Amino acid sequence: MTTDLRNLSDSFDSRPIGVFDSGIGGLTVLRELISQFPNENFLYLGDTARLPYGSKSAPTVRKYSEQNMNFLISRQVKALVVACNTASTQVPENIFCGLPVYNVIDPGARLAATQTKNKKILVLGTRATVKSEAYKNKILMFDPEIQIQSIACPLFVPLAEEGWVDDTITEQIAKKYFTEIALPDFDTVVLGCTHYPLLKTTLQKVFGANISLIDSGSAICEILKNDFKNLKIKPNTTGKQENLKICLTDFGPQFELLSKQLIGAVTARKIDFETVSVI
Ligand code: DGL
Repeated sequence: MTTDLRNLSDSFDSRPIGVFDSGIGGLTVLRELISQFPNENFLYLGDTARLPYGSKSAPTVRKYSEQNMNFLISRQVKALVVACNTASTQVPENIFCGLPVYNVIDPGARLAATQTKNKKILVLGTRATVKSEAYKNKILMFDPEIQIQSIACPLFVPLAEEGWVDDTITEQIAKKYFTEIALPDFDTVVLGCTHYPLLKTTLQKVFGANISLIDSGSAICEILKNDFKNLKIKPNTTGKQENLKICLTDFGPQFELLSKQLIGAVTARKIDFETVSVI
């Protein structure tokens, strides 16, 4: 792998920020990143050939995550954003192959712990994320008095990939999952899978307007803002903006359609799609 040495010695860096998820969910993080850092270039990887990650074992998710990060590094990114909660449970390090790594769990947990008023939080995630107890452990590190219940909602992922984001079927499935809720009067819900913010309208309807929904996409931007300030990542001040690149391990027209809708809402930048292998 080659590195552009010109960039490293300058006080700016036009290389893209690499972002990955198993599928479309990470685009909820990418759209926040694009909105908050409009001068930056981005390279997105959706491991659509191996989706879902939420039903896989921890070692498999770690292996896929490493392959994804190595792929992004081979494409000359300057930082890695793990825009997948399931993968984030298996990527606890802040540096990978010399590059800064940002996972979505730390900022999401911190935001939830600081926002809850009655110290009762419901965490929604994939089976793998719930099993890892990563959110629970992180939230309790911020405040050991918080009560937490976690519920796995695996069907939300295919519903989001299908674009059934505000649909009566989605609402019924959500209600069925939520019959498991035993925690009374929670005031905060962590959307602990990056696909779930796509279902926000339905979830807010089911929970009611008074419940805060925590989306880790916006939470991660605060951490990056700070690291741009202290130059842990050098900003792209060159004014050189490239097309947004979306790499998929299996290309599908549905992904193209949904990503154009989602990303098109925050930027006029053209999107280039590419089918890639990360193995
Ligand atoms: N979007 C991913 C997450 O945040 C997982 C979806 C999946 O592949 O199961 O956990």
